[in-house]
Amino acid sequence: MRVEDFDMFSTLLKQRSGLVLTRDKAYLLESRLMPVARKWNMKGLEELATTVRTRKDEALLRDITEAMTTNESSFFRDQKPFDQFRQLVLPRLMETRAAKRSLRIWSAACSSGQEAYSLAMILNDEAAKLAGWRIEIVGTDISGEMVERCKAGVYTQFEVQRGLPITMLVKHFKQNGDKWQISPQLRQMASFREWNLLGDLSPLGQFDIVFCRNVLIYFDGPTKAKVLEAIARQMPQDGVLYLGGAETVLGITDRFKPVEGQRGLYSLGGFSAAGMKAAG
Ligand SMILES: C[S@@+](CC[C@H](N)C(=O)[O-])C[C@H]1O[C@@H](n2cnc3c(N)ncnc32)[C@H](O)[C@@H]1O
Repeated sequence: MRVEDFDMFSTLLKQRSGLVLTRDKAYLLESRLMPVARKWNMKGLEELATTVRTRKDEALLRDITEAMTTNESSFFRDQKPFDQFRQLVLPRLMETRAAKRSLRIWSAACSSGQEAYSLAMILNDEAAKLAGWRIEIVGTDISGEMVERCKAGVYTQFEVQRGLPITMLVKHFKQNGDKWQISPQLRQMASFREWNLLGDLSPLGQFDIVFCRNVLIYFDGPTKAKVLEAIARQMPQDGVLYLGGAETVLGITDRFKPVEGQRGLYSLGGFSAAGMKAAG
């Protein structure tokens, strides 16, 4: 790939999705954009680059942006955050919101939906305690294709074998040929929308719990800070934020504070785990 084409694509991707690509990732750009060039009946990446320069076709730019997203996810990914959610965050927020009886949970950058549905499974287990509560799970992702996958709730054998306990598989999924379809009951607990984390987040409303995991790693420092600031505006003081295992707020923003003794869990300062049993 020509250096000027690489630079043009990487600038475009940074602007549209926050993705930072260094020149050693040229192979990634090539392998992921070739199918886009083929889909648009182009001979190769040079033609794709020329078209992008000369014709600002939104559908083409979307295809390029989506092709470069990494959609890796799994049910109960890393397990610990979900144990912590069940044992600590949920009981504490149920205490503090006992009068209001409502909780909104956001799976930001939800990919194919495993995170949102893992949370739905936990909430389903706790249904008796949550009787009369209004619980909402909202999943968002920049990729329209991923959002459609989330809504369909259909997973491959490989996907349901990763992290999903067999009891949960039997309880919540129906086998359909070589695929597994999540139950209508869980599907109606979550809604999914296409949304860019770099855009205006305010129409999404306020969330008590935000899972924003394994997406900030693709951004540079200023973009991480901007996204975290925007997320903070969508949360109450005692709301909680989950980041991925390789992510932190330290050195990026001081809006969020680590919740003492709870790795990977952050709040704006108003959430306390004091007096609760530590997870795991
Ligand atoms: C590696 S997946 C993480 C999925 C899930 N959160 C998890 O931890 O398993 C990253 C997701 O972030 C999405 N993404 C990347 N840039 C985004 C942006 N600017 N706004 C919203 N979603 C974005 C990608 O489409 C992809 O599905």
